[in-house]
Amino acid sequence: MSADRPRITVFDTTLRDGEQSPGCSMNQQEKLRLAHQLDRLGVDVIEAGFPIASDGDFESVKAIAAVVRRPIIAGLARACRPDIERAWEALQYAAHPRIHVFLATSDIHLQYKLRITRDQCLAQAREAVRFAKSLCDNIEFSPEDATRTDPDFLCRVLEAVVEAGATTLNIPDTVGYTVPSEFGALIAKIRRQVKGIETVTISAHCHNDLGMAVANALAAVAAGARQVECTINGIGERAGNASLEEIVMAMRVRPDQFPYETGVASEQIFAASQMLSEITGVPVQPNKAITGRNAFAHEAGIHQDGVLKNPLTYEIMTPRSVGVPDSKLVLGKHSGRHALGIRCEQLGYQFDRRALDDVYRRFVRLADKIKHVEDHHLLELIRDTHKPATSATPLIEPVPPVIAATTNPPVPEPAKPFPATTQTNPFGAPLPVHSDTHQEQTQQEDYLWGV
Ligand code: KIV
Ligand code: ZN
Repeated sequence: MSADRPRITVFDTTLRDGEQSPGCSMNQQEKLRLAHQLDRLGVDVIEAGFPIASDGDFESVKAIAAVVRRPIIAGLARACRPDIERAWEALQYAAHPRIHVFLATSDIHLQYKLRITRDQCLAQAREAVRFAKSLCDNIEFSPEDATRTDPDFLCRVLEAVVEAGATTLNIPDTVGYTVPSEFGALIAKIRRQVKGIETVTISAHCHNDLGMAVANALAAVAAGARQVECTINGIGERAGNASLEEIVMAMRVRPDQFPYETGVASEQIFAASQMLSEITGVPVQPNKAITGRNAFAHEAGIHQDGVLKNPLTYEIMTPRSVGVPDSKLVLGKHSGRHALGIRCEQLGYQFDRRALDDVYRRFVRLADKIKHVEDHHLLELIRDTHKPATSATPLIEPVPPVIAATTNPPVPEPAKPFPATTQTNPFGAPLPVHSDTHQEQTQQEDYLWGV
């Protein structure tokens, strides 16, 4: 951790914008559970809901405000009195309340959705923020569809709401339309042009319709934004919001490119992702960066061989750093002898080269028929091919059942004299030796992390 890196405020909107994604609605109990996990994760702001939207949302925001005391708790409101009053009613007992007021500013929204002129929009934004400020010190304003708004008009609205008391200016790419260079330039223009901008925090709120939400958020930070709005697993309207875990880990893994700090405890990321998926019943896409089940899995033989020799060959961050218990080698038809040999050891069998070749040939035939070769398949195959007492050398101490490639790579031990004090696994096979390269590994991880 470096003290001179700018601190980025992480604003989590999983419970508000995230909940708006199809199939992701949550009840009050579920929202509370997730809010506690977001607190453990260390986010700075939890947007707990949109209190006027429903009684359920109101009660959830109120309940979270009452019990989650460390982070700022935000509630969303349209730029009108009833919304702002309802938001405040839900938030008033929070330790750190924030009212988040939004109003569309693009011509297409003004003309077709709100049916108001630019001047009316400007006046409404100013009045709404002034009213919200009379209730609460901490006010965020969002010009909805900012990236399709005339930039000079956008700056006029922002200046008006700063003057009215807004403390955070959030710039939403509501429809996921912008690209990093353009969004960075927009943030830079706002910083140059809006009077009073140095007294407030600029925020980025990016949607993922073109798959650029995280890149856009990072471009905004590089241009001077100091808050990012994001969700766990990137859930949210349509293609989702910028993913919290991707933004945070981009900053952790590439401090040379993104020299910023967040307060996120990255080891809590996986737990948050799993909890959200369990609550909503919406699975995480297997190849989702950071939190997908394949994010740390290696199937290709060359990759497995490299990871077993040194995880840094194919892993840019440790699974443990995001709370994933272990790196996982998936045994399939692309796997090589090295990974197969290691897995056999973990199941209690160490083979010499010729014996492993026999197992390997049968393994490849099996892997051709079934996608993933599970441990029980392998055990069956080994038992068919070899008798442990004759062709395989049993080892002596237990290791965890999953290959711990990163934190404790199970490097094959030279065969131990047989018999030693043999322990057996649940299948009755002798258990292998625990290798000890932990210290060396930790040093490599420290180097990778640059901390
Ligand atoms: O995407 C959006 O514009 C929003 C605002 C309410 C901030 O979610
Ligand atoms: Zn949004």
